Amino acid sequence: MRSQFATSSLLSLLGAIECALAASLSDVPTVNNFIRRNGVSATVIGDYVYFDGGEIAQLVDGGLQKDAGFYVSSPVNSTISIDISKSWTNSDVVLNTIARPWVSKSNQVIWTDNEEGTFYVWSGKWIMGANMTTNEFWKFTTDGNGSGSWSLEEPANPALFNDLEQYEHSAYVSTANTGYSIGGLASGWTRKYRGSNQVVPGMVTFNMETKIWQNGTTAFSPFDTLVAGAAHYVPTFGINGLVMVFGGLAMTITEVADNVGWANSPPYNFRNLTFFDPETKESYWQIASGTIPPSPRTQHCLAGFKNDDGGYEILLFGGYNHRDRFVYDDAYILSLPGFVWTKVPQTTAGGRRYHACVAVGNRQVLTIGGTRTGWEDPDPAPQGLLLFDMTDLEWKNSFDANAATYERARDIKNWYNNG
Ligand SMILES: *[C@@H]1O[C@H](CO)[C@@H](O)[C@H](O)[C@H]1NC(C)=O
Ligand SMILES: *[C@@H]1O[C@H](CO)[C@@H](O)[C@H](O)[C@H]1NC(C)=O
Ligand SMILES: *[C@@H]1O[C@H](CO)[C@@H](O)[C@H](O)[C@H]1NC(C)=O
Ligand SMILES: *[C@@H]1O[C@H](CO)[C@@H](O)[C@H](O)[C@H]1NC(C)=O
Ligand SMILES: *[C@@H]1O[C@H](CO)[C@@H](O)[C@H](O)[C@H]1NC(C)=O
Repeated sequence: MRSQFATSSLLSLLGAIECALAASLSDVPTVNNFIRRNGVSATVIGDYVYFDGGEIAQLVDGGLQKDAGFYVSSPVNSTISIDISKSWTNSDVVLNTIARPWVSKSNQVIWTDNEEGTFYVWSGKWIMGANMTTNEFWKFTTDGNGSGSWSLEEPANPALFNDLEQYEHSAYVSTANTGYSIGGLASGWTRKYRGSNQVVPGMVTFNMETKIWQNGTTAFSPFDTLVAGAAHYVPTFGINGLVMVFGGLAMTITEVADNVGWANSPPYNFRNLTFFDPETKESYWQIASGTIPPSPRTQHCLAGFKNDDGGYEILLFGGYNHRDRFVYDDAYILSLPGFVWTKVPQTTAGGRRYHACVAVGNRQVLTIGGTRTGWEDPDPAPQGLLLFDMTDLEWKNSFDANAATYERARDIKNWYNNG
């Protein structure tokens, strides 16, 4: 009896220790405990930035936390929001956590329905391969106060949806009513029991009004294969706006997308730019001028701004060169309609990939997370957050909720003035 009593007390003591440990891990560690975050998918609705998924590395009691005693990073289990109606710095920013009812993933597709105040996430990588489920589609409904709730979204055509491959590394974007996901890569991390890697060709769309999914690969995709590129919707040109696609690799469909495939596949370059009309799916190309961003480049981020002259500028930041194996720390602005690239100052906070970028506060880019060498490498940017002012062409540690209206940077204006 005595020894049995002792055993069970020991067990409950161990349980208590485990709880104490678990309680000290956080999805939003303090500035001092924060090391790195990556793999998030981000959007802006109203006065809030929302981001979901990804992994985080942090200090616990002064040491690098090891999840399950082994992994330096942990899955982030909450959806996070940041208030952009007020100014903040990356050292005092408040990160609100919102419960997420299913297991976290990285590199999810994110589509935003601004009119409804909702966003959707789909596909991506199951972190550490844990708790993988069948194809599910989740919708987040914002409450206007920096919170909201998740629900499973039923497709209007479940048969097609259920057969869709799940994958990561697609180029995704949404227009006012449709989400697009171009290319991608399926692996054992994206679907349970998948035996090998497979390049996913073409393009998938989801109509946010009708809830109809389409696999347009053979019918209307402007691309054959595209892995780890990025897409941006420019609403201001053409009748329907344009979807522009930047970077990534044209891996062949038969390729086992291993390190050799990543290193040797032909890259899409930043000189001959591809874009398509999201309604008609007609695709176009245009040769850009100026300082062309180097390629190959994958896992970079984009954010775009409409200017007062009827034009539009897109920031491209960071990414990875799989051929020569280095992380990019450079940034460029593509100005439309001139199709001219301008190199902008690089951040002193280091290169990064697997980061997200969003346009906030009139003329600022917020970049979220990203890794450079690995999980043990502390991010020089507090909380992994950096701001870039598109007019002053300056990297900053603070967000200005009262920033002036966006206008083109002087150098870019001069390019147009000098014709
Ligand atoms: C998220 O949940 C998983 C599973 O319970 C856990 O292992 C992990 O530590 C959690 N992540 C954080 C940052 O607390
Ligand atoms: C993941 O699966 C394990 C084992 O089946 C289970 O104990 C755990 O609760 C699951 N985690 C979540 C967050 O569902
Ligand atoms: C948002 O917060 C305000 C002030 O706290 C409150 O009056 C309002 O009811 C909240 N709205 C929602 C949708 O929760
Ligand atoms: C779309 O269809 C093509 C051709 O049948 C297929 O190869 C591809 O895997 C499908 N895409 C998805 C995401 O399932
Ligand atoms: C640009 O790329 C397209 C294919 O996307 C190709 O048809 C076109 O010939 C290229 N233009 C030049 C000048 O290389």
